[in-house]
Amino acid sequence: MKFIHLTDPHLVEPGSRLHQLDPLQRLREALQSIASEHADAAFVVLTGDLCDAGQPNGYAALRDAVATLPMPVHLMMGNHDERGAFRATFADAADDGSGFVQFAFSAGGHRFVCLDTLEQGKSKGTFCERRAAWLAAELAASAPEPVLLFMHHPPFAVGMAPMDRIALTEPALLRQALAPHRARIRHLFFGHLHRPLAGSWWGIPTSTLCGTNHQIALALDEPTRFIVSHEPPQYAVVLVEEETVIVHFANYSDRSPRFAF
Ligand SMILES: [Fe+2]
Ligand SMILES: [Fe+2]
Repeated sequence: MKFIHLTDPHLVEPGSRLHQLDPLQRLREALQSIASEHADAAFVVLTGDLCDAGQPNGYAALRDAVATLPMPVHLMMGNHDERGAFRATFADAADDGSGFVQFAFSAGGHRFVCLDTLEQGKSKGTFCERRAAWLAAELAASAPEPVLLFMHHPPFAVGMAPMDRIALTEPALLRQALAPHRARIRHLFFGHLHRPLAGSWWGIPTSTLCGTNHQIALALDEPTRFIVSHEPPQYAVVLVEEETVIVHFANYSDRSPRFAF
């Protein structure tokens, strides 16, 4: 099966710019590319920072933009989002019973589990007891289906000090909920970083990618500042098979020559 991972559109008031770029225009370009090149994808997961500051008009623009796609789009919360404004536009958005936008669905013999790490008003992520209890119950109920996990904040450091300070800095409850099911978890997809990255955490393969608007430069020796860049945007085309989970990074804005050799 094939699905699309997209992240961090950071929508603002339509017509406005963010870091000298038009987030809505750039998201539309991604969606157009997905619709024309990957219409056979089962669904799209958007791993948070949907809006840059929870703008109601940004969520409305997002609703209209994703409605152009032929497949379902699963929307998740990031630290720049605002649950109330999000729910005002997406009235049928998931609720885990405690008000968090956590949900799961099955496709292609897998369980796709989407977590909410937003601590309203903070940049770093949180995963509290109520969210962990929902995750533990969800994993128990869906066993033994293999799991693909999605969250906005990485529950680990990546060697970029400013980003590491605003990660999910206290992942103990997440690990506790995952522990009995670790062998079923085939991959962890996350957002927040605005950079392409692949590796593993606690034995679980993991990846993220550039956002659709701005990026964070690879400045491993930068101790405090967030260095924004205009590196090209991406989405990921994910191919899930019995023995493999393959993540292709699509640089959809690239216009360089293509030719057979
Ligand atoms: Fe972001
Ligand atoms: Fe973020």
